[in-house]
Amino acid sequence: MENPFRYGGIVTGTYFADRTVEIRDLKREMENINRVFLVSPRRFGKTCLLYNLGKHLEESGIAWTYLDLNAFPDLRHFASAMASFSAKALESNSDRLLKFFSGFRRLHPKLGMDPDGNITASLEISAEEKDPLSALIEGMNQAQNLAAKKKMRLVVMIDEFSDIEKYDGRTIEKAMRSEIQKHSHIGYIFSGSEQSMMLAMIQDKTRPFYKLGRIMELGPIKRESYSRFILGWLEKGGYAIRNEDLEGIFALGKDVPYNIQRLCNTMWETAVESKAITADVIQSLPLIISRQDSPHYEMIWQSATKSQKNLLIALSDDPHGLVFSRDFQMSHGIGPSSSIKASLDSLLKKGILARALDNRYIFVDEFMPFWIRDIRKGKGKFN
Ligand SMILES: Nc1ncnc2c1ncn2[C@@H]1O[C@H](COP(=O)(O)OP(=O)(O)OP(=O)(O)O)[C@@H](O)[C@H]1O
Ligand SMILES: [Mg+2]
Repeated sequence: MENPFRYGGIVTGTYFADRTVEIRDLKREMENINRVFLVSPRRFGKTCLLYNLGKHLEESGIAWTYLDLNAFPDLRHFASAMASFSAKALESNSDRLLKFFSGFRRLHPKLGMDPDGNITASLEISAEEKDPLSALIEGMNQAQNLAAKKKMRLVVMIDEFSDIEKYDGRTIEKAMRSEIQKHSHIGYIFSGSEQSMMLAMIQDKTRPFYKLGRIMELGPIKRESYSRFILGWLEKGGYAIRNEDLEGIFALGKDVPYNIQRLCNTMWETAVESKAITADVIQSLPLIISRQDSPHYEMIWQSATKSQKNLLIALSDDPHGLVFSRDFQMSHGIGPSSSIKASLDSLLKKGILARALDNRYIFVDEFMPFWIRDIRKGKGKFN
């Protein structure tokens, strides 16, 4: 039997655990053409949730489209994608789509071919267009008109939304807000893992997106239902595990869905012969995973400066430590604060560490501290 615990990509269908309440709430909000800001730390499952929500929306005849701002380096690309994707979600007939596209002023139709040889249409912004923001607004406005004409509801999901700042955010936020407020047929979900940036965008009175919609903070998956999901698969695979040992998985993975999936995936492989999952097997999983990812960590390690390495070592030994406290610096022999600040800034920028809402600094990758402790014992890489 194939390993049912998938990780790394978009997980759907029977491989997707729970999130029943979240999907119900989001669906309800979208049926009412509202706007929701979906916020969580990294790897909690926002993107998976959005795709699974999409399937539920389809069942209710609601069109949807998904855009990841990471994929669009500049506003020109974002504007074309926003217009093309929204229109395509509403109109599947390519002749009608082309006709619709020909009515745009700032964007023009572009023909292509899909792998099956069918003609496809999308929108492109011309090289001479000096005003990509107006093109974006035109695309959004046209989508609203099309949805209204077809008496359809559309949900536009914009992932990694805090990236909007990279396109001169404030002006865009302002223009988008006034356009969105006119939309009677399009609901929006803005999703992001830069929690403080996302929250500032919505809670700061001076920002255009202030109170534009409801904030949904995505928490971990409830242990009770996640356990049922895991035990269900283990039973299907003929594995034996004691319910209380499963708690160890949630503790090791800090309830982060990516971590839990990864741990369960490795657990499945580790016990594939014996089919017996003991507490010892569970405790051995993070180290196994950290060794699997060793090439990735080695690259990070090689590119880190000496003081960055020292800070990472200190945090892997003392994950609850406060890096700017005298105690922490003395006990780990690091400092002064100015050099720690420089190391931190760089490690945050590289996405190796993150700042939690309680202001502590944590590893984005829960398994990396296991690798660091492992190489320092002279095992792992060197054994
Ligand atoms: N409900 C779920 N059921 C099973 N696995 C899940 C679920 N939610 C998340 N995962 C696991 O977590 C991984 C990361 O999820 P996802 O990419 O959706 O998180 P994210 O919050 O969008 O992360 P990022 O902020 O880094 O973009 C997935 O590849 C999957 O393995
Ligand atoms: Mg994501």
